[in-house]
Amino acid sequence: MTTYDELPDSAHSPPALSPIEISLESDEPLYRQLRRALEHQILSGVLNPDVALPSSRALSHELGLSRNTVNAAIQELVATGLIEARPRSGHFINTTLLNNGSKKLDRARLSDGSIDWESKIRAIPDRNLPEITKTKNWQSYPYPFVAGQVDPDEFPRLAWARALRTAMDPEHLPFSVRDAIDEDDPLLTELLCHRVLPSRGIHVSPENVLITAGSQQGLDLLAQLLVGPDTTVGVEDPGYVDAKHAFTRVGGQLVPLSVDAQGMVPPWKPLDIVYVTPSHHSPTNVTLDPSRRLQLLTRMRETNSLIIEDDYDSEFRYRGKPTPALKALPHSDHVIYLGSFSKFLAPGLRLGYIVAEPELIERMRTHRRYSIRHVPGHTQRAMALLIDSGQFHRTISRRRTQLRKKWETLTSALEEHLPWAVPFPAGGVSVWIQAPPQLNCRELAEECLRRGVVIEPGDPFFLSPEDNLNFFRLGFAAIDLDSIEPGVLLLSEAIASLLDHD
Ligand SMILES: Cc1ncc(COP(=O)(O)O)c(C=O)c1O
Repeated sequence: MTTYDELPDSAHSPPALSPIEISLESDEPLYRQLRRALEHQILSGVLNPDVALPSSRALSHELGLSRNTVNAAIQELVATGLIEARPRSGHFINTTLLNNGSKKLDRARLSDGSIDWESKIRAIPDRNLPEITKTKNWQSYPYPFVAGQVDPDEFPRLAWARALRTAMDPEHLPFSVRDAIDEDDPLLTELLCHRVLPSRGIHVSPENVLITAGSQQGLDLLAQLLVGPDTTVGVEDPGYVDAKHAFTRVGGQLVPLSVDAQGMVPPWKPLDIVYVTPSHHSPTNVTLDPSRRLQLLTRMRETNSLIIEDDYDSEFRYRGKPTPALKALPHSDHVIYLGSFSKFLAPGLRLGYIVAEPELIERMRTHRRYSIRHVPGHTQRAMALLIDSGQFHRTISRRRTQLRKKWETLTSALEEHLPWAVPFPAGGVSVWIQAPPQLNCRELAEECLRRGVVIEPGDPFFLSPEDNLNFFRLGFAAIDLDSIEPGVLLLSEAIASLLDHD
């Protein structure tokens, strides 16, 4: 294998660097322009897949960009799987992905580029918001501390297969295959009301419930119906990135609300909507303090404002009991509650729900009708059968036990091997780590990938990412228990190598 720097000068062929044009005038962030340019060169076959890409130092020197900008572009390409980091050799084009995608590539070549799509596609106002970069091929790394994924081996596949098959029995079949127009599966909403929501302290009837394709669709529906160009939306800072996109895409004005060890600080000035993750704040996992909950509820009620409560992983608390939802408190009509099956079972099922006042539920139902109609009936009925059989609750409790073990292993390995101390709130499916200010965690993520460890840089969770480069997140739902400690050791080596350079 040849690295870029080992090649004779003549082999450092100009196509790698010279055609890249970066405009300082463009609205598009520099790192995205660079990422697009590199992506174009890779897909159009200009770059030699047997030769390492130029190092970030070389690119930054050649293009007059900062190392951070270049690293952010490279990081995104790694996350898409288009390039991969090879230990001690640099970044290479992922030829497996390219070959699998060669049909797509041929089609791309058929286009003569005569359509100016930029002028045809409506401008969406979230262009400048950071995006979480996900390492899509995380399963090929030995130490995947990815967030938002689960270990496929822990999915109750036999129980789910049984539920899917039963959902095809004559009494269930019509609900599995019908076009329900704007309706949900009545068995699922009934069971949610009687067997799932009460454990969060919520007692409602089916007219209060809408089934969604995951909480993300819930956020999108709420944004479409409640947020417009003048709507102020308070968001936790740091906070869940994809919620900020949903609100900004429809023109909402984001107002950052800071987060400390008691959770989000309630807003002092009136806001139209506040989006909050009270059980385990995303991404720090702190639980919103009871007095802050009351303050928030009272203030938002006084100003006739709405609260969107995202309760995405409430059950995963490893010490003490889960706190009841905000929606469970008295006078919480103005709280709209989002639940998800992604963390309990699997995000790929795309199943979640909204609990709100019937008037809002009906309006969202109509809106959903004109996009996806409804979540697939077969999935809804299978989920209902899983809950009804008791398997759903058994799965949650098994999952909680597995995650508790992983959480304990991870936090004690971090206590032992991290060169600084970190507080670990006892809940959630990831840990959030603040590093010393001089440690750039985008570079750390790259350094880790070279060692087979996937971590998530934390800066995109902030509204001003460039000022917050010293944070990262370790998800622990997908990695297996035995890989946690060796993964943390490699992480600590990567940290030491970067801190030593300073
Ligand atoms: C805080 C938070 N809310 C919502 C979601 C979306 O979940 P779903 O898979 O149900 O769309 C996620 C996913 O990671 C999340 O972290």
